[in-house]
Amino acid sequence: MLQKVVRSTVIDAPIERVWAVLRDFNSHDQWHAVVDQSRIERGERSDRVGCVRSFTLKDGNRIREQLLTLDDREYRSTYRIVEATVPLQRYVATVTLKPVTDGRRTFWHWESTFATPPGMERELRDMVAQGVYEAGFANLRQHLATGGDLRGTSQGASREPMPRALPVPMRRVVVTRYGEAEVLQAQDGEAPAPGEGEVRIRQRAIGVNYFDVYLRRGWIPPMLVPGDTPGMEAAGTVIDVGAGVHGFLPGDRVAYLGPQPGAYCSVRSVPAAWVVRLPPAVEDATAAALLLKGLTADCLLRDLGHVRAGTRLLVHAAAGGVGLLLCAWARRLGARVIGTVSSEEKARVARDHGCEQVIVTRDYRFADAVRRHWDGGAELIVDGLGEAARDENFAALARCGHWISLGQASGGLQPISPDWLVQKSATFSRPVVFDYVATPAALAERAQRLWAALADGSLRTPPIERWSLDAAARAHERLESRTTVGAVVLTA
Ligand SMILES: NC(=O)c1ccc[n+]([C@@H]2O[C@H](COP(=O)([O-])OP(=O)(O)OC[C@H]3O[C@@H](n4cnc5c(N)ncnc54)[C@H](OP(=O)(O)O)[C@@H]3O)[C@@H](O)[C@H]2O)c1
Repeated sequence: MLQKVVRSTVIDAPIERVWAVLRDFNSHDQWHAVVDQSRIERGERSDRVGCVRSFTLKDGNRIREQLLTLDDREYRSTYRIVEATVPLQRYVATVTLKPVTDGRRTFWHWESTFATPPGMERELRDMVAQGVYEAGFANLRQHLATGGDLRGTSQGASREPMPRALPVPMRRVVVTRYGEAEVLQAQDGEAPAPGEGEVRIRQRAIGVNYFDVYLRRGWIPPMLVPGDTPGMEAAGTVIDVGAGVHGFLPGDRVAYLGPQPGAYCSVRSVPAAWVVRLPPAVEDATAAALLLKGLTADCLLRDLGHVRAGTRLLVHAAAGGVGLLLCAWARRLGARVIGTVSSEEKARVARDHGCEQVIVTRDYRFADAVRRHWDGGAELIVDGLGEAARDENFAALARCGHWISLGQASGGLQPISPDWLVQKSATFSRPVVFDYVATPAALAERAQRLWAALADGSLRTPPIERWSLDAAARAHERLESRTTVGAVVLTA
């Protein structure tokens, strides 16, 4: 009769980090205390299905095991014993990882079936359960806690050196005074060691958002005064962490967004609660292009818009940073999408990202065209335009429709009167993305949905226009020129 052993545990490290170790079929002599030496036969890659690892145990036993499956999407691998000096027969094991909902811990399930010589069932079951699985859980936990995976392995070799908690030289962009793009100037500075609860990040890519323009112009004075640095999001690598931070280690690839500006720089310390780990497949520039804008789209479509099959959605600036993500994701949810854009080139891109109809207009005239296309008007409007589109938006809105005022690229929206809205039983909202990711759990859940949407093709990496940190003024000029398609990112 086949014996079955099942064990599971939770590891206090994010899934990408645990998986980076376990998917390497030849890593176990670095973290499992019972394994002495291991090599992959015939010089094959240690993540190639079919490869055989040949290893000795500290007690002198020898085992050859073959990798049968490796699934990076499901975080699962299976393997079998080909030959062993221990009497485990027809041994097949499966390792499966799942993220724990807070996103920073990992559920690890390890199970196997095997046959044994008569009378040895219990002894071998206990050996596998305790000597291999339970001990393995403890050993890997220890390995990660001491940063063992960051040293010496092929992956560790490319990571940042361990930190010194000293100021680090950096480059940053300041708003010298409120005004046009040229008020943005780069200068040298120092990034102090991270404070309690903070993560210090060497930033590689910084997301440029239209909101940064409002700050630069002085439209939201309490948030940024001259001399301050704009920018709400970035991606890069952890240099070091302050007291009380768990779940992030030097070398981790991360991205963040947060409600206090300061991201236009090469090194920055931010609260750990703003930070998410990046999946290996998501590059820094992609993360900087997607995080704030993608999480905004997630809030709008899911929480505020309740978008579902058939929802009639009007998206302004449909070829912009937020716009393209909104159109593509809404389409994937089955919504019908009309976009407005200011050029034919943008119209092509917006159509390609899910718009069934695109209205080309530079002067915010679109209501008639929307009503010609949809008799009843738009059930949901996502409006990043503001004042210049105010009356047209109301005219395009369906009875009982919902108008989401997201931003004000054309100028600040004057107050909306309830007496006006009541004419259509319309609802109006004015969301800010940071309120929707205000807890680590909410942030982790939304970020996971975003990376999953990217992985399953619901979202594509948008076109990304890149500028160096020193050229931040040029990046702003481009964004304000209405000629950018997709996202704008600064590289550091
Ligand atoms: N509330 C939140 O939490 C939140 C979060 C993210 C973004 N937002 C808002 O969402 C909107 C889109 O942001 P984004 O960063 O993705 O920018 P974006 O859409 O890439 O760029 C802004 C776009 O607005 C359009 N626009 C219309 N009138 C304009 C004008 N007078 N000057 C400049 N642009 C004008 C342009 O597209 P066309 O030329 O094609 O019209 C332009 O490409 C912005 O209003 C932003 O403030 C809000």
